[in-house]
Amino acid sequence: MNSLAVTLNRLQLRNPILVASGTFGYAREMQAYVDFGRIGAVVPKTITPEPRIGNNPPRTVETASGLLNSIGLDNDGLEQFVAKHLEYLLGLDTKVIANIAGKDTTEFQRMAARLGEFEGLAGLELNLSCPNVSHGVDFGSDPEKTHAVVKAVREVCDLPVIAKLTPNVTSVVPIAQAAADGGADAITLINTLKGIAIDWRRRKPRLGGVTGGLSGPAIKPVALRIVWEVATAVDVPIIGVGGIESIDDVMEFLVAGASAVQIGTANFYNPGLSSQLAEQLAEIMKTESCQSVSEFVGTLNTKTSSCP
Ligand code: SIN
Repeated sequence: MNSLAVTLNRLQLRNPILVASGTFGYAREMQAYVDFGRIGAVVPKTITPEPRIGNNPPRTVETASGLLNSIGLDNDGLEQFVAKHLEYLLGLDTKVIANIAGKDTTEFQRMAARLGEFEGLAGLELNLSCPNVSHGVDFGSDPEKTHAVVKAVREVCDLPVIAKLTPNVTSVVPIAQAAADGGADAITLINTLKGIAIDWRRRKPRLGGVTGGLSGPAIKPVALRIVWEVATAVDVPIIGVGGIESIDDVMEFLVAGASAVQIGTANFYNPGLSSQLAEQLAEIMKTESCQSVSEFVGTLNTKTSSCP
């Protein structure tokens, strides 16, 4: 019997197809399009301890094969998340991984302790990597801070912990190692690449927040490279994300070393994609005669050169 189930340390999922935070609202918005029972997990929009109104508009701009966003973690805060969304989310026929961001270790710890009270949650994803708020990437660009925040969360919360890291550093490897050493069950690679879009005639940036985070197909080669680099250097399960829009993209991330993937920007133009990909992955398992998704993970053979 082949199985799509994957295990990322303490996190067990029916299949490796997740949807990425910030691209799926709080799931209600997507219920007409997605068969939740077919996907591995939902990761709702990042929540912060207090409500945030986010950055000035415009907040998104389309670029070649990509989307530049400067949302600024607009959300109603932790207690409104609990009051307005959690019951609905926990009633879905899929796992739910809450995504949290704080300004300091104490805030992360406080949020983790509160969310740890809800048994139905499958895990916590720590957003150590938002490029659009001050302090957003501070944790995820410093190995010591990454280690400290992951460890602090583990101390107060029994849920599986995933660290979502930024690509906007010289090397992600030492930061991924720090997250693993701090006790992360998995790491998510990658958050968006920092960029700017310019209206040269007006001599103005196109985004209210001036800079933004680039996502979508344009970033897939960068995401694959980082997943592969970390997978070959650090012993921690990876959730790959960045520009996935087809089953071939999913397979590329698995072969590069990801144990699971998140569908992000594609949810905006093809909201049913995640459940379709889970079905297509089941087909590939059959045609490739594979019993387990793990048979694909990290199988990239870089010794074979196509150069003459
Ligand atoms: C945002 O809300 O600005 C985007 C979230 C993120 O990139 O982590």
